[in-house]
Amino acid sequence: MEIIHTVAELRERLDGHRANGETVGFAPTMGALHHGHRSLMAAAAEHNDVGVMSIFVNPLQFAADEDLDTYPRMLEADTAMAESVGVRYAFVPSVNEMYPEENWTTVSLRVVTEPWEGDSRPTHFAGVATVVTKLFNIVGPCRAYFGEKDYQQLAMLRRMAADLNQPVDVIGMPTIREDDGLAMSSRNLRLLPEHRAQAHVVSAALRAGIAAIDAGERNPDAVESVIRAHLTEATHAEDPDYVAAVDASSLLVPEQLSGDVRVLTAVRFGDVRLIDNMGTTIAGEPNT
Ligand code: PAJ
Repeated sequence: MEIIHTVAELRERLDGHRANGETVGFAPTMGALHHGHRSLMAAAAEHNDVGVMSIFVNPLQFAADEDLDTYPRMLEADTAMAESVGVRYAFVPSVNEMYPEENWTTVSLRVVTEPWEGDSRPTHFAGVATVVTKLFNIVGPCRAYFGEKDYQQLAMLRRMAADLNQPVDVIGMPTIREDDGLAMSSRNLRLLPEHRAQAHVVSAALRAGIAAIDAGERNPDAVESVIRAHLTEATHAEDPDYVAAVDASSLLVPEQLSGDVRVLTAVRFGDVRLIDNMGTTIAGEPNT
């Protein structure tokens, strides 16, 4: 595996591969990699001729009061993991390489970015859309792999690539979980032991919401109540920031659930905020 620090070098390598008719798979990350990231890198490497991953802690997507400076950085372990799953290039640019001048151009989306995470992090998604557009422009035509764990981010990036005709196939990958169901996240390490012991209720509550839908519930408010009822079992969890059953592409709450739907929540345990989601598909129902 080769570690590449400049835009020009990465472009040159990948243009060379594409000129030989080879396909490129890309897994963008901010480092501090766990098995969730590993599954994206493995898919990028296995389902394409050339696998690329990036590690870049993007200042644009952190608000002033967020954890940019304390975001964990562990380059050696990260690149070792990338190499172990067959990634050919790790792109590790400096902030100056990505943003040599003050950034005057922003990519931002309406609708899908407005509710849920957008409510509590108003500048976050534009920061992500902007850096991912830059990364897509640097990597060039490819399949790009993102986790369903950050479902609103994935839904936004699918729509961005479509709206802007970006030559990238955005692919969503299943959430990788701990044995008790907790979605893997670098934040899990910051949970106090008593909070870690309770955190499985987040995925259990979402599973209960999905089970209600699969059993025929079509009212999004009723599904929300099922999930909230399960969450109150976790005595340490505060009131969830949000709980919702939504349309899987717009992330809006419909009058009646139909087609691809997603249940979403964000819950705080102490000062650690956990997000999780799950999906199901309601097959076409005769409208009698
Ligand atoms: P980061 O938080 O490092 O996540 C990189 C990718 O790993 C994202 O697509 C995320 O959804 C995925 N991921 C995280 N935990 C996962 C899990 N448990 N199972 C499966 N996939 C998981 O998301 C970002 O970085 C940034 O916003 C980025 C897209 C790199 C732009 O800066």
